Amino acid sequence: MNFKFNKILNKKNKSKIICLTAYSKNIAEAIDLYTDIILVGDSLGSVLYNYSTTRKVTLDQMIEHSKSARLGIKNSLMVVDMPYRTYTNKKRALKNAKKIIKETKCDAVKLEGGSSIIKIVEHLIINKIPVMGHLGILPQSVKGKFKIKGKKNNERNKILNDAKLLQKKGVFSIVLECVETSLAKKITKSLKIPTIGIGSSQNCDGQVLVIDDLIGLNESKIKFVKKFGKIKNNISQAVKIFKKEVLSKKYPTRKYSYN
Ligand code: KIV
Repeated sequence: MNFKFNKILNKKNKSKIICLTAYSKNIAEAIDLYTDIILVGDSLGSVLYNYSTTRKVTLDQMIEHSKSARLGIKNSLMVVDMPYRTYTNKKRALKNAKKIIKETKCDAVKLEGGSSIIKIVEHLIINKIPVMGHLGILPQSVKGKFKIKGKKNNERNKILNDAKLLQKKGVFSIVLECVETSLAKKITKSLKIPTIGIGSSQNCDGQVLVIDDLIGLNESKIKFVKKFGKIKNNISQAVKIFKKEVLSKKYPTRKYSYN
């Protein structure tokens, strides 16, 4: 593990870890100074392509968006989601993870699941592929509505045990998606590696959000999403002015022309 991973591991119990998604260069560049981790998440399927599920996202889409995002990342650790069905067995997982790392120059990959994929996670890590875990809601496995995880005892035990198992096999951190508050606290306290929460309360070592939701580019009604900006309004406003100036021949003036 290089200094970028150590920087993140060392933040545990000291300072919160900032993680955001980015699917392209310009967004990555705009956030990179403030993030510890930039995730090219397969959420791009719903956010950019309006897919009803992340299951439709392909390896090629992930690679192309990651190559773009890579151009804007200098400071943060870059993690790329392995899309649905690209890690169904050890051989396929390793081949695809190597392809993602080679083509995108990312630092790590993220896989959804615990004990059900543990042999695959172990195989990647033995082969020197850094892995981020993902527990709680697993969008690649959900059919229908997303429900908070960890309300029932058997579910709580399973998520906690999965987190410990992933840590034992060497993942460098775990995303906890929509995990009930007290369970998120228990998992975070039980682990040496950091937890990164999304809809999982203050009790995680870091927070991740989809950037389009945070800046108000994407309409999201999810409870845990706070809009920190109104970028869609800003874009509309700029385009409205552009249109007005073109129609009134105020733009382009000589200053914006080649004379
Ligand atoms: O796909 C994604 O963007 C994610 C985050 C929301 C954690 O997995």
